[in-house]
Amino acid sequence: MKFRTRAIHVGNARDAQSGAVVPPIHVASTFVQPAAGQWGQFDYSRSGNPTRANLEQTLASLEGGTRALAFASGMAATHCATMLLEAGQHIVAGTDIYGGTYRLLHKIVNRAGIRVTLANSQDLAALEAAITPETRLLWIESPGNPLMSITDIAACAELARRRRILLAVDNTFASPVLTRPLELGAQIVMHSATKYLGGHSDVLGGALVVADQELYDRLYFIQNATGGVLGPFDSFLVSRGLKTLELRVVEQCRTAQRLAEFLQTDARVRRVLYPGLPAHPGHEIAARQMHGGFGAMLSFELEGDFEKTRRVVGATRLFQLAVSLGAVESLIEQPAAMSHASYDPAARAAHGISDGLIRLSVGLEDFDDLRDDLHQALDA
Ligand SMILES: Cc1ncc(COP(=O)(O)O)c(C=O)c1O
Repeated sequence: MKFRTRAIHVGNARDAQSGAVVPPIHVASTFVQPAAGQWGQFDYSRSGNPTRANLEQTLASLEGGTRALAFASGMAATHCATMLLEAGQHIVAGTDIYGGTYRLLHKIVNRAGIRVTLANSQDLAALEAAITPETRLLWIESPGNPLMSITDIAACAELARRRRILLAVDNTFASPVLTRPLELGAQIVMHSATKYLGGHSDVLGGALVVADQELYDRLYFIQNATGGVLGPFDSFLVSRGLKTLELRVVEQCRTAQRLAEFLQTDARVRRVLYPGLPAHPGHEIAARQMHGGFGAMLSFELEGDFEKTRRVVGATRLFQLAVSLGAVESLIEQPAAMSHASYDPAARAAHGISDGLIRLSVGLEDFDDLRDDLHQALDA
C-alpha cells in the first residue's frame, strides 16, 4: 500500500465487536488477566495500551520501520533515546538542533555522566572529529532550526556505520512524507508529534521509530521503566492527524515554496532561507533527500533591526505570533526574541541568527491570503 493508504488503514482496523470504522479509544488503565501469573496482550496502560499501540503501528509503517513508541512529548521521546547510554559514554549532536534538545543534553543528560559534543552536521569532517571511542550516539536534525540548514542523512549514516555508533534523526521538520531517515541508514527516528503528525495545534506528543527489534526492546524497557507514555485520547488525536498527513504536508510545502519565491522579490527582505530555493546552500542535498516538497518551514531576514522586525511579526493578521509549527494554521515568530531567546546574543550571532530573522510555519490557508498578510505586515 502507498503512504497515504497506510496512513488511513494501518493501525486503524475496524472494531470487530461493533463494526465501527474508527477503532474505539481504550481508556482503561488496567486489563483483566487470563489467570494469575498469565499475561494477555495488554496488562497495564503504561506498559501498553490498545489505542497507543494502534498509533505506534501506523507510525512504524509511515517511517518505513518495524516498531514505534509513542511518548507524552517530543522531549520525552528524545530523553528515552539518550538513556540508551551509560555514564562515561558520549553523544555527538549537530549544532542546529532544537533548543529543548540542547537544554536536555547539556542540563539533564550530562547529570548521568554522559558527555555531549556539538559539531556542525553539514561538515562531515567536523562530525567525525568529534567522535571519540566513547561515542555511542550521533543526533542530527534536518532541516535545522531556524536557518533550515540541510544535513546529509545518508552520509551521516555511513559515518555512523563506519564508526559503529547509532544515528538518530529528529525528523519533526521534514515528517515521513518528505524524508524517511531509516531508509537512509539511520537507526532511530524521533518526532515531536505535536507538529506535523498531529497537525492541528491541539495535542502534545512524541515518538521514536526503529527497524531493529533488539533496539526496540531496549527503548521499550526504558519507556516502560520511566513512564513518559502518550495517553489514549492524545494517541487518538495523533492517529486522526496522520490520516491527512500527506495531503497537508504536500500542500503546505507548495505554499511555502511560493511564499519563499514571493519574499525573494521584496526589497525589504535581505535573504530567504528555504531549501527549495536553488540558492540555498543545502538545496542539492535536499533535492535528493526530500521527496514531494522542501518543507513548510521557512525563515527570512529583514534589512531592519530588532525593533523593526518585532513590529513586523506583531503586524500579521493570519500568521499568528506563536512558537511551535507544523499545524494547519500559519505561525510567525522572531527567533531572537522567542524560540532562541535563551541563547546569549554571542551564541545567536555565532549560529547566524540575527535580530532581523523571522521564522514562518506555513499552514493550510490560501496562498493569496498569506502573501497579502505578509505584504501588509512588511508595509506596516
Ligand atoms: C525539531 C523539534 N524537536 C523536538 C521538539 C520537542 O517536542 P515537544 O515540544 O513535543 O516536546 C520540538 C518542539 O518544538 C521541535 O521543534
